[in-house]
Amino acid sequence: MSIQEALEHRRAIRLYDETRPLDSECVKHCLELATLAPTSSNMQLWEAYHVTNKDLIQRLGKAGIGQRTIATATELVVFVVRPDYVKRRAKANLAFQREVIRKTYPEEKWEKYTKLQESYYRKLIPFLYARCFGLVGLFRKAVMQLGGLFAPTPRQVSESDGDVILHKSCALVAQTFMLAMSEQGYDTCPIEGFDSWRVKRALHLPYVAQVSMIVSCGIRRADVPLGERFRIPFEEQYHRID
Ligand SMILES: Cc1cc2nc3c(=O)[nH]c(=O)nc-3n(C[C@H](O)[C@H](O)[C@H](O)COP(=O)(O)O)c2cc1C
Repeated sequence: MSIQEALEHRRAIRLYDETRPLDSECVKHCLELATLAPTSSNMQLWEAYHVTNKDLIQRLGKAGIGQRTIATATELVVFVVRPDYVKRRAKANLAFQREVIRKTYPEEKWEKYTKLQESYYRKLIPFLYARCFGLVGLFRKAVMQLGGLFAPTPRQVSESDGDVILHKSCALVAQTFMLAMSEQGYDTCPIEGFDSWRVKRALHLPYVAQVSMIVSCGIRRADVPLGERFRIPFEEQYHRID
């Protein structure tokens, strides 16, 4: 399939053919491809729970307010964001960047470029991601507003802005996964209509983890016609600026 064909094939499927199982290894491979999605500062603060257990799927179906797209799904992927992984991801990025610098630049430049990366992943990233009941975000916002008086400055730095950043990146991962699935001829539906507390309990997730999206997976029923696709006229959404 070309990317256009995969995009056209992908639909939000609400009813799957329960007699047609998926190859779980193939679903896993689509998740591996989804790791190629971009994430903010390459922090990759997400994880995926690939659920193949029937009982757990039914339990998650209840947490998904009884939606049939979950109840009839063959497998599920629950995408979760992990604000608590900031330190370890920053450390991994820094280790990687150190290697890159050593491979790419002459030795006399190593210290300078390593210092730049250290200041990004050891100072700026921990500062931008720090949180404590909204208070750190308020402080950050005040600092940035002040700085913004003198130079262009990122202003979306409150703790709830931080959540948007996490879920934005995670949504790109989920979409990449759905396109990879589509390319395999598999179907999916992105879902945000669920009781996140119950989903977290079913998956034994810690309080700090946030469920971003459930993606149900299966093969669409051949006997159930797909509704027409509704899209706003493109001209209403496209603004060309020359
Ligand atoms: C963030 C997000 C959340 C969604 N949540 C649900 C949901 O809870 N239940 C559902 O049936 N569909 C859900 N959808 C699917 C949309 O309704 C669907 O993508 C939209 O109607 C367009 O249809 P299409 O994907 O077939 O083009 C969701 C889609 C997105 C992007």
